[in-house]
Amino acid sequence: MKDHTKKILIIHGPNLNLLGKREPHIYGSMTLEDINKQLCERAEILGVSIEVIQTNHEGVMIDTIHNAEGQYDCIIINAAAFTHYSIAVRDALAGITVPAIEVHLSNIHKREEFRHKSVIASVVIGQISGFGAHSYILALEGAAKLIKQEA
Ligand code: DQA
Repeated sequence: MKDHTKKILIIHGPNLNLLGKREPHIYGSMTLEDINKQLCERAEILGVSIEVIQTNHEGVMIDTIHNAEGQYDCIIINAAAFTHYSIAVRDALAGITVPAIEVHLSNIHKREEFRHKSVIASVVIGQISGFGAHSYILALEGAAKLIKQEA
């Protein structure tokens, strides 16, 4: 039987389009385009296919999560500020069967207290936080391993 290529959806949340210019002492100097390029290269090596979306809008993020059902094998999500308060994003992730991995460039637990709480943490497989742009690569490796185990 032909093995279909596993598909991973990467969702970048609000303000991540500003990476490179935005608080580089916290988020580093790589742009979102640089990060996406690295992800594409690593996906190729891992033998998985990726699609990437960035949105500044909570509703678009929720629709994107809903539409992932049946289309993707795993989601990697940096919900950015929505992480800390969007019960709607949390419920969207809880409402689909696609497993998700939570990613943050910075270590949210070392920062302001309002960032310590992730409302999505309880509905994802795991959280990777604090490795800068490499957090995404670690998540991609985790996702590839996860979906190969499920195959
Ligand atoms: C972030 C951390 C969030 O607290 C913040 O609102 C972001 C980015 C990170 O990747 O470190 O926008 O998710």
